[in-house]
Amino acid sequence: MDSMGCQMNTADAERMEGQLRSLGFARAEEGTPAQVVVLNTCSIREHAEAKVYSYLGPHAARKRAGEDLAIVVAGCVAQQEGEALLRRVPEIDMVMGPQYANRLGDLLEGVFNGNQIAPTHIMEDPTQPQRSSTVCAWVNVIYGCNERCTYCVVPTTRGSEQRGSEQSRPRDAVRAEIEALVAEGYREVTLLGQNIDSWGSDLSPKQSFADLLRDVGGVDGLARMRFVTSHPRYMSPRVIDAVAEVPALCPMFHIPFQSGDDGILRDMGRGHTAARYREIVHNIRTRLPDAAITADAIVGFPGETEEQFENTLQLMRDVRFDQINTAAYSPRPHTPAAVWGDQVEEGVKKERLRRINELAAEHALERRQRYLGRVEEVLVEKRNERHPAQVKGRNPQGCPVFFEGDIDELKGQLVPVRIVEARPYSLVGERAEGRFAGGRYADDGESVVVEA
Ligand code: SAH
Ligand code: SF4
Ligand code: F3S
Repeated sequence: MDSMGCQMNTADAERMEGQLRSLGFARAEEGTPAQVVVLNTCSIREHAEAKVYSYLGPHAARKRAGEDLAIVVAGCVAQQEGEALLRRVPEIDMVMGPQYANRLGDLLEGVFNGNQIAPTHIMEDPTQPQRSSTVCAWVNVIYGCNERCTYCVVPTTRGSEQRGSEQSRPRDAVRAEIEALVAEGYREVTLLGQNIDSWGSDLSPKQSFADLLRDVGGVDGLARMRFVTSHPRYMSPRVIDAVAEVPALCPMFHIPFQSGDDGILRDMGRGHTAARYREIVHNIRTRLPDAAITADAIVGFPGETEEQFENTLQLMRDVRFDQINTAAYSPRPHTPAAVWGDQVEEGVKKERLRRINELAAEHALERRQRYLGRVEEVLVEKRNERHPAQVKGRNPQGCPVFFEGDIDELKGQLVPVRIVEARPYSLVGERAEGRFAGGRYADDGESVVVEA
């Protein structure tokens, strides 16, 4: 099982792996030939299809040589390309889009019976994922995306039968999943949705995402809750209030701005302006001055002038983001902007990407420095593979923190850590005496590890 792409794809991969395990399969050891090969694909940027073909090459060759194996292509390229993949690589047994992730198990039966499959009907059946962490878990709250950003494939790859229609999971189902996770020992949950603010607008009666947050953020025993992705067009001040008031909700917001120029934002079909974005940031900083704000941005969108690109850099200078996922615009199949005449030259895109990354890293480092000398509450997730004497966790703002410690003792614990080094995208610290009470650090030396 190999997975690419966003957290939604990772969550789907965990779901698919859970089904394979309940059918009696286990992960193939590194270097041994797998009986079932699942490639969970991402289509967000260029070369996605080419990557799929080159990945599948060796497995297709095994099959042609007479080996008995099943090849499954899942995820967003599967949805986008559909049966074309089966025609191009006849060794593929099944092509299944993201909405079939919970059906891998029963669909495989058809494959074992010798059929080539490209399913077209959705069946609700919540399966048990095989989660890769025992501390942090992902929980989908809304599937699909109703937006039509002119650069984006997601509405076509993660839509339902009707192109792109959003489907919210009922509040009780979300709550039940989180309660079950807490009962299993999970400490942190990240809620997932492409436009998470629109959760509940398709339910009847309509419900708001802020209310969902207040409800499920209060599940007993849950230490931390995060959520992605917020959309500036839909994000309501009530969400900021909920984060400020519900203790488990972490002070961090991931709100892509994509561009700092109103003309480009209009062409992107984003439905918000740069001023609206600044207003949201202002509201967050007023209520939660220490919150992390992260984003996605695209440079070199068709027609983007140097001046328009400068507006993006200016927005960054005004906001000072904790982190930005940047990308050069990449034309995607079946998206309007891909066929526009005013494509930006590759060299220019590359140069802008270099400049935006440089500024983003500068701001990231500047933002990390506010933690220096402070004691941060760190939820320990795993060993630092590169330095086995260290463990890795994150502070409430979501920044990775490394410090010396024993993973068997600390995994899943909230530990006070004094920050001694700030890097652009991580922190290094030392375990501190004292403890956190009600989110505040008390240097009373009473206990080192806080049991929540
Ligand atoms: N639903 C989220 C993000 C979805 S895709 C949102 O609306 O913000 C993740 C990110 O990939 C996007 O935020 C965008 O910055 C980037 N992206 C999407 N399509 C792209 C394209 N064609 N070229 C370059 N980057 C793209
Ligand atoms: Fe894509 Fe826009 Fe939907 Fe995000 S909101 S998934 S960028 S169409
Ligand atoms: Fe990629 Fe699909 Fe996610 S295209 S970014 S895996 S929604």
